[in-house]
Amino acid sequence: MFGGQHILSCEHFKKDQIMAVMQQAATIEQTYKTQGILDWLKGKILATLFFEPSTRTRLSFESAMIRMGGHVITVEQGTSTSANKGETLQDMARVVSCYADVVAMRHPNPYSVMEFAATARVPVLNAGDGANEHPTQALLDFYTIYKLKQDFPRQPIVIGMLGDLKNARTAHSLIKLLKLFEMQFILIASPEIQLPRLLLEDIQNSGCCVKETHDLSTVIDQLDVLYALRLQRERFENPEDYQRVKGSYQINSSILKRSKPDLIIMHPLPRLDEIDLQVDRDPRACYFQQVENGLYVRMALLWMVLKHRAIQPLFSA
Ligand code: NCD
Repeated sequence: MFGGQHILSCEHFKKDQIMAVMQQAATIEQTYKTQGILDWLKGKILATLFFEPSTRTRLSFESAMIRMGGHVITVEQGTSTSANKGETLQDMARVVSCYADVVAMRHPNPYSVMEFAATARVPVLNAGDGANEHPTQALLDFYTIYKLKQDFPRQPIVIGMLGDLKNARTAHSLIKLLKLFEMQFILIASPEIQLPRLLLEDIQNSGCCVKETHDLSTVIDQLDVLYALRLQRERFENPEDYQRVKGSYQINSSILKRSKPDLIIMHPLPRLDEIDLQVDRDPRACYFQQVENGLYVRMALLWMVLKHRAIQPLFSA
């Protein structure tokens, strides 16, 4: 499954594909914890191309490749490449395909990673394309819920998604995975940062229950998972909208008093002020576990796209 394929979006994922990633990540986690660095991808090269800031995603892709026995090549900043001289993404993909066996790419423009993948001869993993999608983050978020909620995804759970649902690509991708299962979504956001209506309709058409509110305190007691998001300041078209919603939501110890004892609190990070630092001491806070899980999920994905991959000819005849 996934051999030689790009991972660009969560749109077309099937349940069995998601579960295959979960199982592969669990196997890799266990093997890595007992054996240390693996040699499964010995000799393979990952190229990381990031045209937007990143700490976790880039380092975890790079660390995942090294922990699988492979190597990493990178550019300091995507903007330091020939893209600055006007090179198209399609040409860049043809070039990078000669140097690497797999590419992880982040770019500020929605669908740009798809554009790149169209001419790449190696698998391309979307590490975030503007406000559109971030599929590997969604898979690691799914893995975190899968590990921490014993009956998930067999039993329905209630997830509250809090914050900038309009611009947060991690939420867009995660929703596309979760709506395949029996879920209840509670979307907590003020009107300026509501989930795009098309995605809301997608949830409704999937048969999952979904409601919208702007007040976390009215729904906190119903949640099994609370997934918080930072305000994506860089994606606001209107700075006044940003000022209006800035600081308008926060998870803190006082609001958590009314939550379930087995709630899990998640965040793709980086966080700003949407989670009070005191919450870090709450055993239900699992955003730093998400970071670790990202490593195993990315090790699994690199393995799955590369394992049956024959050496590609540099130029086809
Ligand atoms: C997210 C991203 O880049 O979309 N970060 C991440 O990859 N963990 C979330 C964010 O920037 O808010």
